[in-house]
Amino acid sequence: MGFVDEEWFLSRLLVQHFTIFGYARSKMTGAELRNMENFVKLDKKLKEHEAGRVSNRLFYLSIPPNIFIDAVRCASISASSSNGWTRVIVEKPFGRDSDSSAALTRYLKQFLEEDQIFRIDHYLGKELVENLSVLRFANLIFEPLWSRQYIRNVQFIFSEDFGTEGRGGYFDNYGIIRDIMQNHLLQILALFAMETPVSLDAEDIRNEKVKVLRSMRTLSMDDVVIGQYKSHTKGGITYPAYKDDKTAPKDSLTPTFAAAALFIDNARWDGVPFLKKAGKALLDWRAEIRVQFRHVPSNLYSRIFGIDLDRATNELVIRVQPDEAIYLKINNKVPGLGMRLDRSNLNLLYKARYSKEIPDAYERLLLDAIEGERRLFIRSDKLDAAWALFTPLLKELEDKRLIPEYYPYGSRGPVGAHYLAARYNVKWGNHGVDE
Ligand code: BG6
Repeated sequence: MGFVDEEWFLSRLLVQHFTIFGYARSKMTGAELRNMENFVKLDKKLKEHEAGRVSNRLFYLSIPPNIFIDAVRCASISASSSNGWTRVIVEKPFGRDSDSSAALTRYLKQFLEEDQIFRIDHYLGKELVENLSVLRFANLIFEPLWSRQYIRNVQFIFSEDFGTEGRGGYFDNYGIIRDIMQNHLLQILALFAMETPVSLDAEDIRNEKVKVLRSMRTLSMDDVVIGQYKSHTKGGITYPAYKDDKTAPKDSLTPTFAAAALFIDNARWDGVPFLKKAGKALLDWRAEIRVQFRHVPSNLYSRIFGIDLDRATNELVIRVQPDEAIYLKINNKVPGLGMRLDRSNLNLLYKARYSKEIPDAYERLLLDAIEGERRLFIRSDKLDAAWALFTPLLKELEDKRLIPEYYPYGSRGPVGAHYLAARYNVKWGNHGVDE
């Protein structure tokens, strides 16, 4: 089987002799499966196809964690390229905690060098996440404001308006903290908060990201709220609870929602709360970064016109999905003879500005892996640093069997998330309310 996005060929992004081999367990007889699982035979088959040309091989293993190690071992021993490179794309979960992740990495490194391992976090392939560093480092107006001096807090929000829907079997063993927070949201945070890298070279960028993660405070239960969705009836329709998912255990305490306050103990970010919120079965579907700026000191207009200071601060929103956009909330004079201010948006809505379709995150990442571009993949030390932040908390949650706060399917999530934010004088940015 071979398929390749036509546009890659049309844009001349691939070499002429290029084939993708799909190799799956589905829709095969037992005999076919045994036949295919033999990597020596796979190697032979590939060689026939390669016909003596210099050949590079990229294994994309989107398979359950329990068979992952065996697949890497077999692929590496029996089906590595003999005259070109061999790379392996690894999908999460990369372990469940610091120890299991380190063990997985040790094992991988028995067969692969670091530069052969491409750990995917598909959020890093999203267009607006890619654009974060352009926004920061290619514009004069943002970077000087990018610190505790001007930024009050930063929010990373991931919200889905649907539940696990049959994925409970996978999900229950991981929960939302491992599924979204420890990887997707943390990767974006690192990109957001890192210092200026020496260059755009992959290692320079990854060095800076590791530094940020290592400057962060380990999470404690005090700074985390967990929730799980419960059944809810709205407009005559009953939406299921997480535990109604037939693949999830009936007594599950696995969080489907989590909110957390994180801190980076370095000179740039000292004291600034970085708030994260991730949940399934919430009111809306969105992923965004919200940067709330400080008040204008002794703001003339709020003194004279009594404007609510909380509403009057600037906010930069980077909407990763849906409807990619970057907008900045500013205070503006309402046209007219009187003096009335309102909040308006300087708005860069991608679909209005760019006619080009935005590539899927995986398109970008697979192409990068083929080209050996490592910038958007997770290096081992970064993974270790990410797990180190979350492991004690995850252990405490599981050891103490802490009970999540139940929230109705389709709601804004547990009220505890608001108290958590309020403790740091923060209000969650509410999409759709004032934008
Ligand atoms: C995956 C998670 O990594 O990301 C899923 O395992 C989640 O639970 C998905 O639904 C969201 O990705 P996207 O690109 O659809 O926002």
